[in-house]
Amino acid sequence: MKVVTHENYDQMSKNVAQRIAQVVTKKPNAVLCLPTGSTPIGLYREIIRLHKEENLDFSNVTAFNLDEYFGLPEEHPQSYSYYLWNRLYKHINIPKENIHYIRVLSNKLEDVDQYCQEHDATINELGGFDLLVDGIGLNGHIGFNEPADELIPHTHLEPLSQSTIDENSRFFDSKNDVPRYALTMGMGTIFKAKQIILIASGSHKSEIVHKILHSNVTTQIPATLLHLHQNIEMHLDHEAAKLL
Ligand code: GLP
Repeated sequence: MKVVTHENYDQMSKNVAQRIAQVVTKKPNAVLCLPTGSTPIGLYREIIRLHKEENLDFSNVTAFNLDEYFGLPEEHPQSYSYYLWNRLYKHINIPKENIHYIRVLSNKLEDVDQYCQEHDATINELGGFDLLVDGIGLNGHIGFNEPADELIPHTHLEPLSQSTIDENSRFFDSKNDVPRYALTMGMGTIFKAKQIILIASGSHKSEIVHKILHSNVTTQIPATLLHLHQNIEMHLDHEAAKLL
């Protein structure tokens, strides 16, 4: 895994935005997979700037996102579809029909399974992702693939770990409001990316960053599986890199 350390969050955001711009410029119908969370906020700000000031064109781009809380209505400010629409998609010229959220309206498990299969089939038909960008959970989760003895490779419903519920409760009024389940691409779906960029910012991420880079591959730290990918970079700001 190649590690790129940046002076600060702003530099990291700008650099990763440039990487997305390169992919989209070289291949105007690129398929992207994009993250949510606090880390990519600066990245999306910079992409919007590149679109508005430097005409970065998204009119043929297709975009997916990695994961979504299960059971939150679409208009809920913490839903990832709400996040991506408001922080990125509505500010650039990506056609609505090219935006793929992970969201299933039914609560029936068989409908969820069917939805997940169709979701992975759509990704396969498109030939996988040209670039996937992802953040890292404090417990090493990727998307919402939580530490476990075994990981489900395809898109699926995942029970959230207590540590993720605790970590993400900062976005909700109370811990009780954090959904207990989420839909996430599996590690196999993530591996359909030709190129992966992991991003991490802040000193609270420094321990998990160190662990990912120095551990053997283990499903107990899902991000370590990414050591097996042939084209992966981890971009860090100075604080996240402080234990390296
Ligand atoms: C969340 C999301 C992940 C995200 C991670 C890091 O739980 N499921 O996709 O990458 O946590 O979030 P943040 O960037 O806010 O630290």
